[in-house]
Amino acid sequence: MKSMKRRGWMLALMASATLTMQSQTHEFVVQTKKPGAEIQPTMYGIFFEDINFAADGGLYAELVKNRSFEFPQALMGWNTFGRVDVKDDGPFERNPHYVRLSPAGHPAKQTGLDNEGFFGIGVREGEEYRFSVWARVPEGDAGARLRIELVNTASMGENQAFATQELTVTSNEWKKYQVILKPTETQEKAKLRIFLASPHTVDLEHVSLFPVDTWKGHENGMRKDLAQALADLKPGVFRFPGGCIVEGADLATRYQWKNSVGPVENRPLNESRWQYSFPNRLFPDYYQSYGLGFYEFFLLSEEIGAEPLPVLSCGLACQFQNNDPGAHQPVDQLDSYIQDALDLIEFANGGTDTPWGKVRAEMGHPAPFGLKFIGIGNEQWGEEYPVRLRPFVEALRKAHPEIQVIGSSGPYAEGKDFDYLWGQMRELEVDLVDEHYYCPETFFLTQAARYDNYDRKKGPKVFAGEYACHGVGRKWNHFNASLLEAAFMTGLERNADVVRMATYAPLFAHVEGWQWRPDLIWYDNLRSMRTASYYVQQLYSLNKGTNVLPLTMDGKPVTGAEGQDGLFASAVYDEPTDAVIVKVANTSDRAQTIDILLKGMGRKEQLVSGRCIRLQSADLYADNTLDEPETIVPREETLSVSGQSLQVEMAPKSFAVFILNK
Ligand code: AHR
Repeated sequence: MKSMKRRGWMLALMASATLTMQSQTHEFVVQTKKPGAEIQPTMYGIFFEDINFAADGGLYAELVKNRSFEFPQALMGWNTFGRVDVKDDGPFERNPHYVRLSPAGHPAKQTGLDNEGFFGIGVREGEEYRFSVWARVPEGDAGARLRIELVNTASMGENQAFATQELTVTSNEWKKYQVILKPTETQEKAKLRIFLASPHTVDLEHVSLFPVDTWKGHENGMRKDLAQALADLKPGVFRFPGGCIVEGADLATRYQWKNSVGPVENRPLNESRWQYSFPNRLFPDYYQSYGLGFYEFFLLSEEIGAEPLPVLSCGLACQFQNNDPGAHQPVDQLDSYIQDALDLIEFANGGTDTPWGKVRAEMGHPAPFGLKFIGIGNEQWGEEYPVRLRPFVEALRKAHPEIQVIGSSGPYAEGKDFDYLWGQMRELEVDLVDEHYYCPETFFLTQAARYDNYDRKKGPKVFAGEYACHGVGRKWNHFNASLLEAAFMTGLERNADVVRMATYAPLFAHVEGWQWRPDLIWYDNLRSMRTASYYVQQLYSLNKGTNVLPLTMDGKPVTGAEGQDGLFASAVYDEPTDAVIVKVANTSDRAQTIDILLKGMGRKEQLVSGRCIRLQSADLYADNTLDEPETIVPREETLSVSGQSLQVEMAPKSFAVFILNK
């Protein structure tokens, strides 16, 4: 009885303590008349890498896999029937393979081939698809007929084909032919089938199928929904072509931008290191066609309003995969690598009378792309890196002092190698240092003050070039990871004088073709889905403001430090809209009340309007899915405001952006 009484008291005490804790109000003071560091237009951007089938099979709208028969197994992705031979003296010297179709030798037999696409070919009923092919009749009378079909091989119907067109090959010379297919069904996993439909021998090369309705209607275009998802982020900077693929598993397979420009038919194939990097998720058919190449990256940057940021090899192969000294380019033999960097600047910015400016113009863009940044090296480490970076920096400074050079602090967010490289980057006087952190929850919870004490007087600025919260035991997309990213990003924003750009990574993943997660945007062959992390990035980017405003609680920045009840916050002023924008992450599992006091407003000034955009999830470890893509989305509400302060409620485990107008 006695002990029950004591328990009752204890419970009452605990309840009242909880109540006190719940009702405790925090006070954020925002100094509205002290606009601080300018927030760079480049502050929130995107990082593109061809990982997880992000290019071929993803953003690049080509639907045919191995269209030039250049995979090491020349018919990978194809299924042939009848008489089909692979030849290698085709019209495109860097992609010499093609197929020869000959009559099957019996009137009832068929010759032709099917392409399986990337995890199938996704097409929509009623939409138009442009089939194109380079072809010739090698000898004799021309006038060979091909029948082109989209087929559903799983169909129980009489007819597998649901789109059919005939095409006549009219010449003995190689020529490009095209027809438009209009499916009568929507299929996620169709096949492309080509029949030889007359008794001729025909050669086929660069067999291609694109939706007509690509992003901005470009023929060699991008998947509209995926490019739109990028545009909707309003990114300030666009880093490409990636991280490790820049370096290559060996130097021969590094990304060479010159191979990715000019006519698509003649861009040589490269392997993707992501086909074999994780043998537990092996994709032997993963190659880079370079159909989505540097010209397309520059154009996309322009179309979505982002500064292009290409990254080039510094002459080191991926050190994770190959750190034998012989694997790397000797320091005294870097000239062609350095020339690649100089030529790239000419390709982007040079006049049409320069060799590389002319290539750009011939591809359709006589005006310069206005390149301002270049990265040299990805996640390099050790003395091998600065010794190679130096001659690049010297050559770039001499020829292009207007271009900002970005170096790297290696793959890790801290430690001996990190400190060493930062020292070296200062010595080399690069403009920005690319820091990477794929880290667990604890990192994101404890590093919001990371940049508060970075050297502001001199030295390079920071490009947080790859980051994402990788949950311990939960290394996939979920709301909790996105919340911690949001919390951490208050520290990037508060330190916008030091941090000039930040790009979450990786960007894209095909649900059937991923090697690495979490990622920002997921898709299958027809649908795409924006994750909670995507919305965090978007909330920052769309509300980045123009200047940092000091925000404190009890005189200290709100960084989730001890005693701050899991709160993180930052504030900015947005000059064009004269708004004060406050971002708050409540990482605790308690609701919190916050008084936001706007200090420095004139005596007669009052808040006249306010909005709040919230991101939260009933299930912390859930995220959007392709079937339910809008479970976790920002929800906007109007705030009722007056005077010079505002009381707001933060739900447990939630992120919110408050946009306040005087
Ligand atoms: O984003 C995936 C990989 O992570 C990048 O290629 C590399 O830079 C980093 O290790």
